[in-house]
Amino acid sequence: MISFFFSTPVVILLLGIYFIRRAYRPPKELEPIPTVPIFKFARTVLFNEGQHEIQRVISDSDPEKIGLVKIFLFSGWTVLITNIEHAKIFFAENDDVLLKGQVPDDHPIRKFFGRGISFANGEDRIRQRKMAIPAFNRSLSPEMIGESTNELITLLNKWNNIPLDIFTVMKRITVQTLGKLAFSYDMKALDSLEEEPYFMKTYEKITELIQNPLYMILSFTYKLPLKANLELSQLIEGFDQLIYKVIEQRKLDLANEKKSEEHTDLLANMLENIGNGYTMKDLRDELTAIFSAGHNTTAFALSAVFYNLAKHPEIQKKAREEAIQVLGDSSKIPTSENVKELKYIKAIIKESLRLYPAVAMLPFRKVLKPLRFNQDIVIPKGTSLSLNIWQVHKNSNIWSDEFVPERFINQDDRENWIPFSSGHRNCIGQNFSIMEQIVITAMMLLNFEISLPPESQNFDKMPLKSSFYTLYPKDLKIVFSELKRIVEV
Ligand code: HEM
Repeated sequence: MISFFFSTPVVILLLGIYFIRRAYRPPKELEPIPTVPIFKFARTVLFNEGQHEIQRVISDSDPEKIGLVKIFLFSGWTVLITNIEHAKIFFAENDDVLLKGQVPDDHPIRKFFGRGISFANGEDRIRQRKMAIPAFNRSLSPEMIGESTNELITLLNKWNNIPLDIFTVMKRITVQTLGKLAFSYDMKALDSLEEEPYFMKTYEKITELIQNPLYMILSFTYKLPLKANLELSQLIEGFDQLIYKVIEQRKLDLANEKKSEEHTDLLANMLENIGNGYTMKDLRDELTAIFSAGHNTTAFALSAVFYNLAKHPEIQKKAREEAIQVLGDSSKIPTSENVKELKYIKAIIKESLRLYPAVAMLPFRKVLKPLRFNQDIVIPKGTSLSLNIWQVHKNSNIWSDEFVPERFINQDDRENWIPFSSGHRNCIGQNFSIMEQIVITAMMLLNFEISLPPESQNFDKMPLKSSFYTLYPKDLKIVFSELKRIVEV
């Protein structure tokens, strides 16, 4: 009898009944919130139907547009915010109400990201932001981005008229610029498109293994001596060795330089903080967090910009005319003044981030104290809560569905536009990312005609992988054709 109860099919059946009962019985407080149908949602994820479909299932679940939906996930009942009014309540709360990223110390996510800003909370996070933000402001330099863009242009001239995977290309340039910004280090990401530099390869493999679905379903499995776990530990060790080597080299270079020299890299600015309780390990964690938060997001955003330019030749033409008017020469690197003048290109970037917000959904927060949204709805302690930026950006009461950069020309500060989030946990790389996108887009427009291959299946919408938080284009090819003559003014 006892052995029958512990046989595998019975355990699976009992677990199934337990999950289904929980799935259909939310806590009483969550009852007024519409539910995302679990099977429909699971199908879109399991069959890899893409982000457009995931988001359609979410938006169809809330026909009355309450602005909140609930969904049952492995971690339990989760509430997603989908309108700006509720988002403002979310932004107003601090880490003592909404706690982010609680992972055990021995978990691979913690081993890799350590205690860098993205995973820190409370005093620790505030201290890190205070240190990183001034270092960031001192490091903003369009010249550095322009030099890397010239390397990209030289590389793409070798691939004239050939359809290229846009995300792969854009990752190259964002890794290169971030290497310079963060470490004053040449990542060699733009030497060729065929070979992937060690740093990028290692980072990609680590992040792929860290997102092992097994860790989500059976969270204890990261502790087992599995092949994938051992490989992950070795890769993190290799990554750490490299990052510490880069830090040591930079320290040596700085020691040999004249005191008066101005430094634009984050590492030089942050090394000044070593001591006073700030250690080399803290520095390593910070640089890893910044590198991680900064390159795929902007690479995706740029992929969306070039996709939209390829799809709308008339907008591309207008943007190129602006670049010619402000910069003239096809090899000119924009100055900070030029960046301010490239207003139409900035509007394209903002509209592109609206339609395709790189972070579609914020990582979940644990609600630590009951959180009131309106008279009827109070989210109870212990619920997971996230903000779905994609849904806020697609609200048909506020935005039309088309790509219209003009809407951002005279309205720079639209409160419904939140690709970088808002409040105390907003993105510290926002200004850098926007500047980077302006410089790269303007310089590329002066050198290339941008198009989709004629046989492309993607003229209708950008194909997106169904990652939960961050968006990735799925096998999206773009053609860069060398412009023979740029009219100089
Ligand atoms: C288009 C590009 C980018 C987008 C759409 C974006 C978006 C975001 C969003 C939505 C958050 C909030 C995450 C949360 O609340 O959990 C965030 C945080 C953050 N971002 Fe970005 N980001 C971009 C580029 C960058 C860049 C270039 C850097 C650095 C070089 C960066 C560094 C960070 C960091 C360190 C945080 C954590 C801040 C904190 O938790 O206090 N981001 N970003």
